[in-house]
Order: sequence, then structure tokens, then C-alpha cells
Amino acid sequence: MSGLLEQALAGHRPRPDHLDVAGSAAAATAADERAGLLRAVSYGTVRRVVGTELELTGLRLAVGDAVDVVSRDGARVAEVVAVADGACRALVLGGIDGIARGDRVRPRPGPLTSPIGDALLGRIVDALGNPLDGGPPIDAPRDRVDAPALHALERQRIAEPLATGVRLIDTLCTVGRGQRLGLFAGSGVGKSTLLAMMVRGTSASRSVIALVGERGREVREFVEDVLGPEGLARSTVVVATSDEPALLRLRAAVLATRIAEVYADDGHDVLLTVDSITRLATAQREIGLAAGEPPTSRGYPPSVFSLLPKLLERSGPRANGTVTAFYTVLVEGGDHDEPVADAARSILDGHLVLDRALTSQGRFPAIDPLQSLSRLATIVTSEEQQQVAATIRRGLAAAERVRDLVEVGAYVSGTDRIADAALAMEEQLTAFLAQAADEICPPPDAWERLAALANDLEQQAAGDGEVAA
Ligand SMILES: Nc1ncnc2c1ncn2[C@@H]1O[C@H](COP(=O)(O)OP(=O)(O)OP(=O)(O)O)[C@@H](O)[C@H]1O
Ligand SMILES: [Mg+2]
Repeated sequence: MSGLLEQALAGHRPRPDHLDVAGSAAAATAADERAGLLRAVSYGTVRRVVGTELELTGLRLAVGDAVDVVSRDGARVAEVVAVADGACRALVLGGIDGIARGDRVRPRPGPLTSPIGDALLGRIVDALGNPLDGGPPIDAPRDRVDAPALHALERQRIAEPLATGVRLIDTLCTVGRGQRLGLFAGSGVGKSTLLAMMVRGTSASRSVIALVGERGREVREFVEDVLGPEGLARSTVVVATSDEPALLRLRAAVLATRIAEVYADDGHDVLLTVDSITRLATAQREIGLAAGEPPTSRGYPPSVFSLLPKLLERSGPRANGTVTAFYTVLVEGGDHDEPVADAARSILDGHLVLDRALTSQGRFPAIDPLQSLSRLATIVTSEEQQQVAATIRRGLAAAERVRDLVEVGAYVSGTDRIADAALAMEEQLTAFLAQAADEICPPPDAWERLAALANDLEQQAAGDGEVAA
């Protein structure tokens, strides 16, 4: 490549650090000259097509740059994922069929952008911001989707609770506005239903839902049956199904995060849900392996573990509003120690664990209160509320401790008075913990019910009430 062409292409991208001329006037003139030059000669070529990955030559590109690959079927967008000696590797955002060696490659001016703003409310879009709901194009300003996380000192402190409308969460695992939590669960235990309940019941004024790597048919089911029209009206849904390229699956989560940030900067409390972070990690694994990274941690390349904190740190309190986020983590076979779950847990400030054993008893949402924890609950609840929650947790834990003995008939009533009281009140406790998918319970009602239960439990344990054998 000629030195002149290299210079032209380096300056083609709008980022100032790529301009090699100091001073804005000089830079403007140089940029104009380059623009003319680019129109004439700015093509590279496809050197190899392997799997989902292209090797490009003839252009000086940086990681994250977008290019158009012009093949016999028209132009397709690809994004550079690695740069090496004399060539760079890129992944195509659409299908790869029909791309041939020698196809021309045209750089695009700057990274990909998507429409971001209020016009997205009530809409379902793909990872690039194109409507999937049959509605008109999104009429919002276009912006890039990556942004640095806010500096720790620019954030407000988390001080207020965020209602989810789910009794168990609002009382036993109270969530703060701007908190980040994980929803750890296997498949089919009610993650999507729970996320939709929260979207409908939350005190947040807006929700952004990223569906990453879902099966195609589930998306429609989720939006129409689970989320429903009232849930959708205050939400934006960003979808990349499992059959879409890894870059789009990754981008769906990043776009959703950006939309949530912009809503929060407009003064909203936003609820962001990403389902699932595991499928996002799988997408990044594909990208990392295509870029030539080694799979160092149980098949995951290092970039997965730099992506997770980078993305998850972007939710949280902001200057004018908050982004409270729930990320689902798939833990098949109860393996809570697999690397993605482990990484997520270390970044998040709380986790809800959904237990398959509870679903088989018909208890929904199947949240196990004893395994679930909101690390900020003590900051956003009163001392009185904390005492109520602690009493109930103590009762549930005591009942759990003796359950096996009770089942085999080896438990002697009176051995543990708190366990006795909790077992006697099991029906009422379960009625509190369970909640129909279409029921919204405002936190004051939930606390009132829980306080009454805590009171009964204490009285029973003190021997004032009847204790069942
Ligand atoms: N609150 C609830 N009340 C009654 N049934 C529920 C409730 N939540 C979930 N279910 C039942 O559990 C099933 C699975 O729920 P859901 O699709 O939300 O699980 P999931 O964990 O998202 O599944 P997947 O892993 O396939 O995405 C649903 O078909 C529904 O019948
Ligand atoms: Mg689901």
C-alpha cells in the first residue's frame, strides 16, 4: 500500500487521534484532500473466507472499524475484530454465503451507528436499531453504541429502593435504584416470566429489554403473551435471536445498554434487563476465537472476561437518572461456579437464584429467598423493615434445616421452636412468596403482609400460638 493511501485511510476515520496533522484548520484542509483521494482509491480486498470470518487486505483499519464487503449479492457490513501483519480479520453482520476471495472491501466512515432516543419507546428493534415490529422506521438521532462507563465519582449514590412489583424481591431482596443484579437459573424455570413481571410492576418509568440468543419463536411469545401491550408501551425491546451472527448478538446487549443510558440521562429511572449474559458471553467467545484469541478459561477467551465488566459497569446510577439492571445467567445443572457465572457474580451487587425444585412444587416465581441476596438492601430499607425481613429469613432457614428430618419422620417437634413455627405457617409463607404472573403487588402492601407474618412467626415461636406437630 502506498504511504499516501495509508495516510488517507488513517485520516478517513473521524476520531481525532487518527489525524496526523496538528491544528484544526490544517486538519480540515487535509481531511478535504483525503476525502477526494478516498473516493478514488479506497478499496481493499477479501483474501480468505473461513467459517464466519473474513481476512481483508489492502486497507489500514483498526479494531471496531466497519467496512462494506461488495460481493455478487450486493454490499454487506463487516466489523474488524483483529488486526495482524498485512491483513485484518473481520466478521460479517449478516450471512457469509456468496462472499468470494477477491471481493472488494470499502471502509465506512466511522463505526456503525443506531437510532437512539424517545422514538424507540414501545418499539421492538434488531441489534442495529431497525424495526422488527412492522412499524415505521425509528425517527431518532443516530449515535454510536459504545460509551465508557461513568466515572465512579460522577455517579449518584444508590439510596432509594426500586419497586419491582414482585413481593419476594421487594421485601426479602430489596433492589436499589441503579443496582445491578444477576438472575441465576437453568432453562425453563421462569426467567422470562419474572423479567416481564418486573417490567410491568416496576416503579421505573422506562424499561429496556435485550433478548440475546433467544429462539426465534420465543420472541413473539414473550412480547405478545408475557410482556403484553402495557409492558411494551413503556419499554424498548432489542432482539438478536440465536441464529444471528455473534456480532449482532453482542451488539443487541450493547445497544440496549446505550438506550437505557440515554433514557436515564433524560431523567428517567430505567429498568434494563439482559436475557441472557451467558449467551452474550458465547457470542463474545465466537468473536474472540475468530480473532485468534486462545480459549483460556473452560473454552472462553480472555476478551469475554474483559467484556463483562465493561458492559455491566455501564448500568448504575447516573447524573440525572438511574439504570437498574437484571442480567440473567444460565446455570445448567446448578453449576454456579462456571466461569461466566463466577465473573458475573463478582461484578454484580446482588443475585436472585431461581430453583428448579420450587417449580416442580408449582411455586412461581421460583426464587429461593435463602440463596438470593441484594447487597444493597440494607441501604434502601428502614431498620424496621430489615428486622421483619430477618425474622422471616430466620424462620425459612430453620424450616429448611429440619425439612429432611420431618420428611422421614425423624423430627421431634419442640426441638427447634422457630422451625416449628415456620413449618406451622408454611402455607401462609408460601402464599406470600408465590405470585401469579399477572399480579402486581405494590411494596407497601408486601411489607404490611410480611410484617404481619413476622409477627405471627415470633408469637408462635414464643409459644403464644398453636404449634403444629
Ligand atoms: N409466575 C408464574 N406463574 C405461573 N407459571 C409460571 C410463572 N413463571 C413461569 N411460569 C411457567 O414456567 C414456564 C417457563 O417460564 P419462562 O419461559 O419464563 O422460563 P425461562 O426460564 O425464561 O425459559 P427459557 O430458559 O426457555 O428461556 C412458562 O411456560 C410458565 O408456564
Ligand atoms: Mg426465557
